[in-house]
Amino acid sequence: LSPRLWIVGGGNATLEVWAVAQSLGCPMGGFVTLDGSCEFDPEGLPCRKEADFLLEAVPGTDLVVLAIGDPRIRRRLDGAFAAAGLTFPTLVHPSAVLGPRVTLGEGTVVMAGAVLETHLTVGRHCMINVLASVAHHCVIGDYSNLGPGCHLAGSVQLGEGCDAGTGSSYRPGVKLGPGTLVGAGSAVVADWPGHMAIAGVPAKPLIRTSSPKP
Ligand SMILES: CC(C)(COP(=O)(O)OP(=O)(O)OC[C@H]1O[C@@H](n2cnc3c(N)ncnc32)[C@H](O)[C@@H]1OP(=O)(O)O)[C@@H](O)C(=O)NCCC(=O)NCCS
Repeated sequence: LSPRLWIVGGGNATLEVWAVAQSLGCPMGGFVTLDGSCEFDPEGLPCRKEADFLLEAVPGTDLVVLAIGDPRIRRRLDGAFAAAGLTFPTLVHPSAVLGPRVTLGEGTVVMAGAVLETHLTVGRHCMINVLASVAHHCVIGDYSNLGPGCHLAGSVQLGEGCDAGTGSSYRPGVKLGPGTLVGAGSAVVADWPGHMAIAGVPAKPLIRTSSPKP
């Protein structure tokens, strides 16, 4: 059997990863979701229920990419799919630019137009979105997301499961602890310990002055 790619997830992040797989001409198996249904047109490909897929998938033939936006869910699924003996290719869109000494962890997806400069490390199951840029000596923790058009200057460190919002920018050398959520358009100029949301210019812990949305 020749290898085929299964994309896990049924939402927008899944579509984005499918677009990268298409651009690379990956032979597709189909999609995998919790209940076997997809929010989008699966393009004639099968959509399998996760529990069934985990029982039937063939290690070495069925390759898996976790394409769910929430880093915490990707972390959980990593364990479940790895326990079934499955492996995770890295997918890099042909228009992305990867310089020398760029290390990408298993299952990481780099989308169109992203630039990963040099001497930097991206962990496993990260999603580097369209037009994001990452400069020298950055370290991006496992399961992190870089949103579209976010820019990391040199030596920025993001802990595990960080979620960098669209168009956010990072001063050289800043460090964010695990699970930091950064609002769209923010300028991150200081270190933050993690497990918190920060937003604004400069980014500060998110405080609501209005009532939460229903
Ligand atoms: C930060 C974020 C997570 C907050 O979402 P939320 O919890 O639903 O918060 P709300 O929209 O209710 O906003 C709460 C307050 O924070 C402010 N706020 C929200 N996002 C902000 C941002 N990016 N920058 C500055 N302030 C922001 C709101 O104006 C509001 O202020 P107020 O209480 O004074 O009116 C969200 O706005 C955001 O920026 N997400 C990034 C999404 C993204 O880029 N994803 C990438 C997809 S590939």
